[in-house]
Amino acid sequence: MLTLRRPAAIVLKPVGPFDLGRMARLHRMCFEDGWSRTDLSQLLAMPGAFGLLARCRERSPFRVDTLRTAGFALVRIVGEESELLSIGVAPAFRRRGVGRELLRACLERCRRAGCTTMFLEVAVDNLAAQRLYESHGFRRVGVRPDYYRHTDGSRSHAFTMRCDLALGPSPTADNGDPTGLSDRPS
Ligand SMILES: CC(C)(COP(=O)(O)OP(=O)(O)OC[C@H]1O[C@@H](n2cnc3c(N)ncnc32)[C@H](O)[C@@H]1OP(=O)(O)O)[C@@H](O)C(=O)NCCC(=O)NCCS
Repeated sequence: MLTLRRPAAIVLKPVGPFDLGRMARLHRMCFEDGWSRTDLSQLLAMPGAFGLLARCRERSPFRVDTLRTAGFALVRIVGEESELLSIGVAPAFRRRGVGRELLRACLERCRRAGCTTMFLEVAVDNLAAQRLYESHGFRRVGVRPDYYRHTDGSRSHAFTMRCDLALGPSPTADNGDPTGLSDRPS
């Protein structure tokens, strides 16, 4: 029987210009309306925006360690508020702690940049993401009717969720900024 192991190590890094193609491929794996390299590059060029990539160290059949890109997160900081614009983990790496690690690092970086809150939108039927967010202190604060439009033309509602960063790291978080980039992005 095939048993999925947790990754031996999750390595986070800030998204750079050479990561955009990889990130667009990941985004397409996670969402119906995948964002292109151009979309991502424009988002990351917004003032206060930053992106993180998660890579997992895996051992190949030839006993060589390789780093495989597993997930991403995209955030924007405006004054004391931050917004999680998108987060996704490739299907093969889900339920192995990658989403948690990405979210924790984003919250930590925003907290260190002086933010007091983080907002996000999540589809009302996306229970996996809602559980992840709730376990990091996010609470529902509103509903946005017909927020998401699907490729078949149908629409679905979203919850707006908010996390109070002044309350400190979530119980699952450890200390430190694993990206090594704790400054407010320019
Ligand atoms: C949501 C998503 C990012 C979670 O990433 P992940 O790496 O699988 O999550 P983790 O393994 O770190 O899980 C952390 C916690 O989230 C919750 N969770 C994650 N997947 C879940 C699932 N399928 N069902 C229920 N809870 C789930 C659990 O509470 C989990 O903790 P546990 O494993 O100790 O029970 C991933 O499922 C994904 O990319 N989905 C598609 C894109 C998406 O919906 N993004 C969010 C848009 S708002």
